[in-house]
Amino acid sequence: MKILVTGGAGYIGSHTVVELLNNNHEVIIVDNFSNSKPEVLENIKKITGKDFKFYQEDLINKDKINQIFEENQIDAVIDFAAFKAVGESTKIPVKYYINNVSTILFLLEIMDSHNVKKLVFSSSATVYGTPDNVPINEESKTGDTTNPYGTSKFFVEKILKDLYAADNTWDIAILRYFNPVGAHESGLIGEEPVGIPANLMPFITKVAKGELEELKVFGNDYDTLDGTGVRDYIHVVDLAIAHEKALEKLIKEEKGLYIYNIGTGKGYSVLEMIQAFEKANNLTIKYQITERRPGDIAKCYSDTKKAEKELGFVAKKSLEDMCKDSWNFEKNLKK
Ligand code: NAD
Ligand code: WQD
Repeated sequence: MKILVTGGAGYIGSHTVVELLNNNHEVIIVDNFSNSKPEVLENIKKITGKDFKFYQEDLINKDKINQIFEENQIDAVIDFAAFKAVGESTKIPVKYYINNVSTILFLLEIMDSHNVKKLVFSSSATVYGTPDNVPINEESKTGDTTNPYGTSKFFVEKILKDLYAADNTWDIAILRYFNPVGAHESGLIGEEPVGIPANLMPFITKVAKGELEELKVFGNDYDTLDGTGVRDYIHVVDLAIAHEKALEKLIKEEKGLYIYNIGTGKGYSVLEMIQAFEKANNLTIKYQITERRPGDIAKCYSDTKKAEKELGFVAKKSLEDMCKDSWNFEKNLKK
């Protein structure tokens, strides 16, 4: 299959491209490097020993994207391209809605006009807002989002549902990721946030490296085992494999619109994460308990049964793997 991967130079996209190439798919990447670097492409080639086509292009440029479909016989699209910083999205919401919603509208129109109707879309557990219960299953309510980033994912899910209702020859998988962490075991690709990281694992690795002084643990008065926030961390390589499984389903089975949680089903607290990181890497992480971060919830972890039953997907990598691989990538990273 010839797969167009938008945002394929990014964190999750690059790991997914590795899985696709390893499974003998042909890959075409479109990325504008708004949140990634060209070196990633060379590193994907080093890991896989395989080549792929690349277009440096912004998805907002409809004519250019159309041209890519004219030049290539694309079978399916995996759409990763989006802005993802929750805090930033509250400051520049219009830019987030343009990049996360308008671009996919253009993409869907172009796909339709070329009769390419298989799509895997990157959604997020953020669409569940504050869940009533954990573990969260796919039937749980969505839409009670607390920031423009989350709302942009909710909007796109709604658009995809409307599209499928209007034309059931589409084949769509919406994957709701929980908290991706870790890196490829080679240490060649991983997460490289710009500036001070907002997420827990990249913050921990920067403290481990001595680039940041200490971790601030946002609150220890939640209703959890030790009072700190509980999340479902999933290794990015497992997450990448989930895309390959979703694609297989779209290729083999009846047409449909499918929604899956992609997590491990296990929740770990912030303090458990710190301890696991220290143990896996034989390091000490300096931290201090501070105020809660506005908008945070106590517990968020997935019910994974649907993805296991329908995709045959079970995350295999352990918390130790996540901690080791995150550090292995960070420690080799040049500033
Ligand atoms: P990332 O920023 O590392 O990757 C996104 C890639 O898309 C980047 O390479 C960026 O340059 C590119 N891009 C962005 N806008 C573009 C545009 N208009 N045209 C072309 N390229 C563009 O992010 P990621 O962590 O790999 O996330 C991938 C997807 O998964 C995103 O849709 C994100 O919202 C979603 N997601 C991420 C997480 C997470 O915690 N990382 C969790 C849930 C969902
Ligand atoms: C995890 C836990 C924090 C940083 C976000 C997005 C979500 C999705 C994944 C894209 C929480 C605590 C964190 C720190 C801390 N992204 N923490 N000190 O908030 O679960 O999810 O990323 O779709 O949409 O909202 O992830 O890594 O920021 O936080 O104590 O410096 O770590 O309070 O309990 P979150 P996170």
